[in-house]
Amino acid sequence: MREKHIIVAVSAGIAAYKAIEVVSRLRKKGAEVKVVMTENATHIASPLTFGEISGHPVAIDMFEQVHQWDVEHIALATWADTYVVVPATANVIGKIYAGIADDMLTTTIMATKAPKYLCPAMNTEMYNNPITQRNLEGLQALGYHIMEPAEGWLACGITGVGRLPEPEAIVEWLESQMCKSNELEGTTVLVTAGGTQENIDPVRYIGNRSSGKMGYAIAEQAARMGANVILVSAPTSLAVPSGVDFVPVDSALSMQHAVESRYDTVDVVVMAAAVSDFRVLHKAEQKIKKMESMTLELVKNPDILQGLGAKKKHQILVGFAAETEHVIEYGQDKVARKNLDMLVANDVSKSNAGFNVDTNEGYFLYPNKDPKEMPNMKKSELAHNIMKEVVELVKNK
Ligand code: C5P
Repeated sequence: MREKHIIVAVSAGIAAYKAIEVVSRLRKKGAEVKVVMTENATHIASPLTFGEISGHPVAIDMFEQVHQWDVEHIALATWADTYVVVPATANVIGKIYAGIADDMLTTTIMATKAPKYLCPAMNTEMYNNPITQRNLEGLQALGYHIMEPAEGWLACGITGVGRLPEPEAIVEWLESQMCKSNELEGTTVLVTAGGTQENIDPVRYIGNRSSGKMGYAIAEQAARMGANVILVSAPTSLAVPSGVDFVPVDSALSMQHAVESRYDTVDVVVMAAAVSDFRVLHKAEQKIKKMESMTLELVKNPDILQGLGAKKKHQILVGFAAETEHVIEYGQDKVARKNLDMLVANDVSKSNAGFNVDTNEGYFLYPNKDPKEMPNMKKSELAHNIMKEVVELVKNK
């Protein structure tokens, strides 16, 4: 989003107020935002607020020169590299599809060459109306990106489809659409995620603090780059990223089976899962009753990644290492021992890195290149950096 020029165009849906938070979130991500409103939208949400939040005058009237430019709508249309309509009403959608340009919104969207994104929001009947559906299909065929409206309670007092999704979801959707590339088209990437669970009895298990966030962010990023993604995941509370082939597992042995049975057909493996090093030797068939003390005998689990490294052919192997000291030294040893192409090594003793937080930092280590330091950043951003490295590794294979 950094340094992107985004026009947020607001039409007169009752959810127009949500666009204020969309503008704010986009700016926090580093984008420059200018707002265009329809005259009707100004009766629902205040242009003053949009002006304050965006840091720019709001364009509404075709004949008022807010930016002192000669031809305001053309200047705005040229400035934009992304154009998003939040909310897009049935009326505005219809006008855009019909080629009507009779106000600032419809004129600028017609005049811009920027990719266009629409977030429809309206009453369920209006949304389901074949005219609206025809218009949306037509716009999609013309290359417009359309976000599915959410289902839920609508301002008209009924529950149904047509709700404007929450600002956070809109920005996430926009980001994922804007960041799409084909750098990994034709490449199959298998990602493991989450913390494995080793059963003790039918209700108890040995687990770890992994949330799965890093692995899920990597799977999502790989899919954005056009890869075929297989996500082998231990149980997590996360939503499965769209467009990935999801393989749920629980224990280390089930993860090993899921990964190894697919190994020959994949090009890249990213082992982001926290795999339990041990499992219980004798699992109880029935729930173990309370007792004063008990001893569990544990046996070593296979090191899945090391096994993959030993039989590596064409694959690129990326591992993770959670350390609490000597991060580079221990990591470099792992690169060699597990025959990896890259290792993401991080210090989990820090409170803002590693398990169960949204940020991470560390080093990228390689068998024959100097380490690269990664400062603290969001896991989604780190996932982007990891997959950029993978693109290079695939290219240089
Ligand atoms: O040796 P260590 O457990 O620190 O290595 C971590 C890396 O190895 C991670 O990529 C993890 O997914 C993988 N691993 C594995 N099987 C294990 C333990 C770790 O594949 N039993």
